[in-house]
Amino acid sequence: MKAASRDTESDPRAPILLFDSGVGGLSVLAEVRKTLPRAPVIYAADNAGLPYGTKSEAEVAARVAGLLGRMTERFRPRLACIACNTASTIALGMVRDVLHVPIVGTVPAIKPAAAITETGVIGLLGTAATVRQAYVDNLEAEFAAGKRLIRHAAPRLVEAAEAKLRGQSADPAIFAEAARGLREQPDGERIDTVVLACTHFPLVQDELASAFGPGVGFIDGAAGIARRIAFLTQGQPFARSHSDYAVFTGGPLDPSLAPALAGYGIERAEIF
Ligand code: DGL
Repeated sequence: MKAASRDTESDPRAPILLFDSGVGGLSVLAEVRKTLPRAPVIYAADNAGLPYGTKSEAEVAARVAGLLGRMTERFRPRLACIACNTASTIALGMVRDVLHVPIVGTVPAIKPAAAITETGVIGLLGTAATVRQAYVDNLEAEFAAGKRLIRHAAPRLVEAAEAKLRGQSADPAIFAEAARGLREQPDGERIDTVVLACTHFPLVQDELASAFGPGVGFIDGAAGIARRIAFLTQGQPFARSHSDYAVFTGGPLDPSLAPALAGYGIERAEIF
């Protein structure tokens, strides 16, 4: 882990950069706000590249490394968080190797899920790119040996979360499909814990809970990420003197997102 330069560590206005393909990283921002209410944040959405989940590994890695390189130069954050499972499971190591700023990634919450499941059967919902990553195989081998992990790619949940935050209603069939995708696999009826391995999915957790019915709990990595950011910035001064802002890689800016962004303390948006 590389240290941020001395000036960003001691500058109380140096932001934390939260990066995702779209609005998913807002589920992480909500936890960061609870843990570090005085931290200035820049929220970055690569909406020109959304969705990441249907892209190849090479495409995601190139976008994430290129954009984070340019963004860390321009915004000089004290820390950058890849608030996206797809980007993290593909590109975290590579980005850490090249950027001179501490990077926190998003890891599917398989370890805590394995600790709480009572039936021993865990479901995992992610994007198509995330569910096929060796990163997930390794987490399963390390933390869920002896449990059963059932994976399902649910790309339409990304679309549903994007619509919800724009005040649009999402097709209920999307949530039913995601639940069926796990339930209909062998042992699927015994799932009691579902890992939301895409930062968009906690934004539609209520809808998913209705689709799964009672007896299923959901777990995601956002609180763990916020704790990790707090640990890495321990002792640093923070001054959040004005509302935070968001940058989007694709224009035009969508006014229908403004109320949701304001709910997360983001009053201003720009094209990057
Ligand atoms: N929010 C992203 C994740 O956590 C993915 C959404 C997308 O497909 O771009 O995986």
